[in-house]
Amino acid sequence: MHVTIIGTGYVGLTTGLALSHVGHDVTCVDTNPDVVERLRAGTPTIVEHGLPELLRDAKDRARFQTSIPPLKGRGVVLIAVGTPTRADGDADLQYVDQAARDVAAAIAPGADLVVVNKSTVPIGSARHVAGIIERGLAELGVDARVAVASNPEFLAEGRAMHDSFYPDRIVIGADDPWAVGVLRELYAPFLEQTFEPPAATPRPERYPLPSLVTTTTTSAELTKYAANSFLATKISFINEFAGLAEHVGADVTEVARAIGLDERIGPRFLHAGIGWGGSCFGKDTRAIVATAERYDYAMPIVRAAIDVNYRQRLRMLGKLQEHLKVLRGTTIGLLGLAFKADTDDLRDAPAITLARHLAERGAVIRVHDPVAMPNARTQYPDLPVTYADDELTLASGCDALVVVTDWQQYRHLDWRALAQAMRGTIVLDARNAVRPEVVRSAGLVYAGVGR
Ligand code: NAD
Ligand code: UGA
Repeated sequence: MHVTIIGTGYVGLTTGLALSHVGHDVTCVDTNPDVVERLRAGTPTIVEHGLPELLRDAKDRARFQTSIPPLKGRGVVLIAVGTPTRADGDADLQYVDQAARDVAAAIAPGADLVVVNKSTVPIGSARHVAGIIERGLAELGVDARVAVASNPEFLAEGRAMHDSFYPDRIVIGADDPWAVGVLRELYAPFLEQTFEPPAATPRPERYPLPSLVTTTTTSAELTKYAANSFLATKISFINEFAGLAEHVGADVTEVARAIGLDERIGPRFLHAGIGWGGSCFGKDTRAIVATAERYDYAMPIVRAAIDVNYRQRLRMLGKLQEHLKVLRGTTIGLLGLAFKADTDDLRDAPAITLARHLAERGAVIRVHDPVAMPNARTQYPDLPVTYADDELTLASGCDALVVVTDWQQYRHLDWRALAQAMRGTIVLDARNAVRPEVVRSAGLVYAGVGR
């Protein structure tokens, strides 16, 4: 099937590579010429497990272009551009609108197209995009059959290739049964798992076939916000209990394990720490609260999840203050910049908030991250930090070290060597990622979250 993907970022690129791998004819379009040039050269533009291998494999199959080729015959167009937060909290649809106008201008007479909102978009966006395309076609006098569907994406960064090949479910929101049929065909290789798994992204053992949920466009749009709001709330919930655990002398990691064994609760997304960051939880929770307000409806649970999350970042500052007393003049080393492990993404990364707040209080900040430092240098040129090439260099002369990102390599650091390099003794494990007894046995003072 001919598939055109508009926007070749975390979602567009990984989806495009997965669809190409299972045999579809994929064209990836991005208005950023630098992105397109790098992908054409086979150079990954983002850090994702298994992506370099798939990009290499797709080199002779998938096409990368800066503009949409003529959309002829039968095919699918996936819109996967960014939907950042507007000042009022709602989603900014300028990139989606532009993509829809670009799609309309590329449609050839007689085409049979399903245009899909894969971006996370506000309620009513399927109809909104359909309107833009209809008006575009009318202006150009082009006669074509176009249905707009909603197909939210649930992949998580760091495991985006895995999630694309082995999703928990695929949700198709379409008001036109023909569009449902086309999208069912698009996703058949994943629904039936008929493809040969890529070597770098093997099929998990006992992976059950994913469910296909077909529904209305509106329910599909709301599903995406409900999923992210639920996961964000689950994390804020355990972080709220982490705070109480500190007051009463309990260990939240044991509490989380114990409640997670209840199948109704489940063990995932109960890891207490500095709170959630990333490109979507913050943006999507704010957007759904803003949407609800427009319907004169309050969403106190989601709002509380946002508030607890913000407080959680500030609590880490408080913990440092408590241990170091005066922050001015101290040197603090941040282990990790990315918003979570296995990604180079810095969007809404807690480390950036922490670095800025600490610098405002007069601390000297050093940072280390296994992959995100180049992005930090270009995306945050004014960040008042110095970069360290390795953990030992980072620790040298530090009064405190903070584990901000849960990178695997930070779980097994040589704390004795770090202790010798440090000036002070404080280790704040803002991810509950390291073993307290190992840190303490190196003569350091360990502070975790709710333990
Ligand atoms: P991104 O910023 O990584 O990528 C978006 C890309 O779209 C950019 O490369 C940009 O240059 C390009 N673009 C913008 N306008 C364009 C246009 N008119 N034509 C062609 N290209 C254009 O964004 P992302 O993280 O992939 O997110 C995309 C959408 O998917 C968002 O709505 C997001 O909420 C949603 N989503 C993201 C994730 C994730 O893990 N990142 C997961 C699920 C859903
Ligand atoms: C999240 C969702 O998991 C995806 O399903 C969704 O598609 C995506 O948002 C999106 O819409 O963009 P992602 O943001 O990539 O994916 O990463 P997560 O693994 O969900 O982590 C989000 C944040 O929560 C990270 O900062 C992570 O460190 C934090 N987290 C996660 C915790 O603090 N505790 C946990 O137990 C789990």
